[in-house]
Order: sequence, then structure tokens, then C-alpha cells
Amino acid sequence: MLTLGIETSCDETSIAVVRDGSEILSNVVSSQVRTHAEFGGIVPELAARMHTEIINLVLHNALDQANINAGRIDLIAVTSGPGLMVSLVVGISCARSLSQILHRPVIGVNHLEAHILSNFLSKSKPLLPSLCLLVSGGHTEIVLMKQFGQYEILGSTRDDAAGEAFDKVARLMGLPYPGGPAISAAAESSGHRPYSLPRPMLHDDSFDFSFSGLKTAVVNLLKKLEREGMELSVPDLAAEFQDAVVDVLARKTMRAAEETRAASVLLCGGVAANTALRQRLEREAAHSGLPFFCPDFALCTDNAAMVACAGYHNFIHRNDKLPLSPQPNIGI
Ligand code: KG4
Ligand code: ZN
Repeated sequence: MLTLGIETSCDETSIAVVRDGSEILSNVVSSQVRTHAEFGGIVPELAARMHTEIINLVLHNALDQANINAGRIDLIAVTSGPGLMVSLVVGISCARSLSQILHRPVIGVNHLEAHILSNFLSKSKPLLPSLCLLVSGGHTEIVLMKQFGQYEILGSTRDDAAGEAFDKVARLMGLPYPGGPAISAAAESSGHRPYSLPRPMLHDDSFDFSFSGLKTAVVNLLKKLEREGMELSVPDLAAEFQDAVVDVLARKTMRAAEETRAASVLLCGGVAANTALRQRLEREAAHSGLPFFCPDFALCTDNAAMVACAGYHNFIHRNDKLPLSPQPNIGI
């Protein structure tokens, strides 16, 4: 079964062809990140316009790279939400039109579920129930995946998402957008560790997070350095900030995995591209005797292969299909 996945929820225009929900035949991603970087963050109207301009070319390339013509597609899957309203509409309109022309079913996909299922695009499949840390630009959730379509949120952020915190703190430090890759690159050349930041909610009983306090701690530290006429070491602050985020994410995830007696640990979402986080969770999961999964780097940030994978599983396993209209604020 060939699924065509379409993703336009934020600032990546992506179309993929995936066989039987796991074999990626093509996964074309056109990122707008350089355009939005000039504004220090995503400008929704601009994102929508750029999706509209590029989506036909992305479709053409996805079919070309998969070496199939559109008539061979069996199912069309498109992100319905969460995401930017004006961006979602572009992908959904494209999916609806293709469905009419090709006489094939079209299914809406939850972007958060797609991130989780990006872990099912590899040859070895995670054992269920699985404890999943979902960390992206808009979401930070600890989710217990019981079955396909059955998810329980155990904890989430009370304010900023982890990716959002990386982006905001990078900006404070004069690093470019998106902040996650910029901070982790800067952290690599950290020499010593003169700064110390808090680990918010680390010892709290819940599985919730709060990252805005960490951002405030960075603001206060920068003000103090300025007052005292001291020069900021960007690599050292980047390393301390990254460690603080990774500490909290990893410890809470592992505690949740142990308490729920999960059979595996999953990491996903844009922040899953962070090497320090991947390595830390991999080490801790191994220590607890649990198999650990995280997608290849290219499948961590937004892409349509994960949407095709989620669409395929929903089509096969679920009766309560997602409505095919934009759902900017849906949860998982
Ligand atoms: O999943 P994603 O591509 O888009 C959303 O659905 O939000 O995630 C984007 C987020 C951005 O906040 C970006 O700074 C973060 O993922 N990110 C990273 C890294 N690469 C991307 N954060 C930390 N380390 C990275 N290497
Ligand atoms: Zn995403």
C-alpha cells in the first residue's frame, strides 16, 4: 500500500511516499527556515504563501524520487493539526484536490501522533507500551503509547515548550533562529563551566515541565554579567542551558518509564535532533534495561514521511478518523 504524506503545519513544506507505513520511497522537505530567520521566528502569512508557491514542485519531486506516477498512490494523508491555521489550509487543500483527481481516500493526521510514529519508520519496531518524550517547537509531552491510536499524556509543559525555550534563549544570547541547533553547536566548544542554571521542577512529583523560569534565569544572568562588566562566554552558557534542559527531560522521562513499566523508551520531535539529549536518554534507558528508539536526524524535524506513516496506521487501525479540516490547537 502506497501512502502519499503531506505536511505543511509550520515552516516546512514536505511530501513523502511511504510503502506499507514503514518503507520510505521519498521524503522531500523544503524548509523556509532561512527566510523566517531574518525575522527571528516564524511569520505565519509568509509561511502560508511560501507553502503555496512550492507545494507543486515538492509533489513533483516526491513522486519522481519514489519513481512512481500519481495513479499508483493508494492513500493520501495530510496533517490536520496542530499547527498554524493558514499553513495547514495549504496542505489540506492540496490533499483534497489530489483525492478528487485520483479517486483515492484522504485521511487527516495529528502532527503530534506523526512525530511519535516517526519511530516506526525504522526496521526494528518499538515494543508497546512505550514511554515517549515528545519535544518540539510547540510541544513538550510525556506520552504513554499503549497501542496505535491509544495515547495517555502523563505530563506536559506548563509554559514554554523545550524547543521554544531553545529558540528564545538563543535569541537572548545573540544566536540565530532556530535556536536548538545554534545552541548545541555553540555548546560543543565550551571549555569550562562558570555558570549555573536551575533545573526547574526536577524534584516535583508530577511529570510536568516549566521552561520559562529557566529563560528568566538566563535573562538575570545576562543582566548581572553586564552590571559587573564581565564578558559572556556564549559556548559556556549554551552548554549549561542545554544541560539544564536535558537533565530535566531525561530524568522525568526515565522516572515515567519506570513507574509505568513501559517496554521501551521513545524520543521524537525537533528537539530529538539534539545529540546531548539522544545520548543521555540512550545511556539511561540502557541502564534501566529498556530499548531506546529515536528517529534518524532528518525524521526528527517536521517531515511528511512521519505523516504518511501515521495516516497508514490510522487508516488500518482506527474508526474515529480525524476530521479533514484544519485543527490548529488539537492535542494528541
Ligand atoms: O518538530 P519541529 O521541527 O517543529 C514543531 O513541530 O515545532 O521542532 C522545531 C524545534 C525548534 O524549536 C528547534 O529549535 C528545535 O526543534 N531543534 C532543536 C535541535 N534541532 C531543532 N533543539 C535542540 N537541539 C537541536 N539540535
Ligand atoms: Zn513538529
